[in-house]
Amino acid sequence: MQSDPSLDELDVIGPDTYARGGYPHAAWKRLREESPIHWFDVPGGVGFWAVTRRSDLVWISKQPERFINGPRLAVFEEGAPVEGERKFVRQLLNMDPPDHTEYRGTASAWFTPRSIQRRRVEVERITRDLLREMAGDGEVREGDFVRDLAAPLTLGVLADMLGVPRADWPKMFEWTNRVAGGSDPEFQTEPTTGGRNLASFEQVRNDLFGYFAELAAERRKDPRDDIISVLASSTIGGAPMPPLELLSYFFLLVVAGNETTRNAASGGLLAMIENPSELAKLRSDPRLISPAVEEIVRWTSPVIQFCRTAVEDVELHGKRIRKGDAFCLFYPSANRDEDAFPDPDVFRVDRRPNPHVGFGIGEHFCLGANLARLELNVIFAELSQRLEEIELAGPFERMRSSFLGGVKRMPIRYRLRPS
Ligand code: HEM
Repeated sequence: MQSDPSLDELDVIGPDTYARGGYPHAAWKRLREESPIHWFDVPGGVGFWAVTRRSDLVWISKQPERFINGPRLAVFEEGAPVEGERKFVRQLLNMDPPDHTEYRGTASAWFTPRSIQRRRVEVERITRDLLREMAGDGEVREGDFVRDLAAPLTLGVLADMLGVPRADWPKMFEWTNRVAGGSDPEFQTEPTTGGRNLASFEQVRNDLFGYFAELAAERRKDPRDDIISVLASSTIGGAPMPPLELLSYFFLLVVAGNETTRNAASGGLLAMIENPSELAKLRSDPRLISPAVEEIVRWTSPVIQFCRTAVEDVELHGKRIRKGDAFCLFYPSANRDEDAFPDPDVFRVDRRPNPHVGFGIGEHFCLGANLARLELNVIFAELSQRLEEIELAGPFERMRSSFLGGVKRMPIRYRLRPS
């Protein structure tokens, strides 16, 4: 395969790169300019085509029959067999039409704009309760934004929708950290060699599956107004949803619904701290909250990558993609594409239009996008009006992952108006 050796040396997939320096925006920029579809080898594993421009990401995502999700969820650096995960979980993100469409339909009514708007009062209540704790009497305080607000809020809202009893919320928190932090030694139950730990992944999957299997059985007998009840009694092709798919659905919702919004909220606050004039703009014009939320999702792009596998040979930007090759779609790169966004490296709460692809696009467009938007809307509407001072009080600690842009800790010093 012919390519510029220096481009080949760019690291866009090593989790240490992400943990140390955050997203490799300079590398993506070079790829967008010089080789928008670029082959990378994975030592000891299966290589991939890096897709870095927005237009290509959209083109590929909108052809779900030609570029499928099933065989390979994402690129993991350790070179484990690409099929490694599918025997453990079978969920929307590794399904394709027609299965995908039918499975997605079982829960989609819970995530429509109208259903989500009905949760606004509850989201506001949880946010204000947490902010009351954080604010104290309005004095200068220190805390960890991830621990004090971003994590418990996203966890609480989702656990409530699922129907998980409050006493079990800490378990959810641990599981989501262990899955999303699959390459981060801090979240592993067993020592890791530095790669992604599939044994640990299997263990957390088993814990989560065991827990939800019991709850699903209870709800089948005694249904309530929650997602567990809906999925536990749903049918696929006229028969009850099979156990692997049912339990994988809960697995997906717990992880996808927590790690992402939590990190958008933390990264969004960091962007406000680094750009105080943008925070001031939002404070003086609260109508900017919707564009501000879209800009936070564009800027933070908490999902780094998902793959699509070609089912036929195809040529793209002069590169020959063979049947079975995987495209790795880099969402944060597409969201900084200079062809789609003027001044892409500037954070602007009033950016309009903002055609970001932080929630993906096409068949697999994020099921929880309306929920994430609502949560971010409530958090930043409150913070922008009540924060009187804010600065970082220690390092913004990133998770060791090239899959989800996790934030482990965000120490802040702040003064928050009590209400
Ligand atoms: C800022 C927060 C979030 C971001 C950036 C985000 C991002 C994404 C992305 C990029 C995808 C894949 C889209 C594609 O392949 O085209 C996705 C899928 C998904 N997301 Fe989110 N997400 C967020 C919040 C949530 C929340 C709160 C939930 C709620 C439970 C959720 C549930 C899902 C599910 C179930 C899928 C799979 C959809 C499918 O395959 O049909 N996400 N998300």
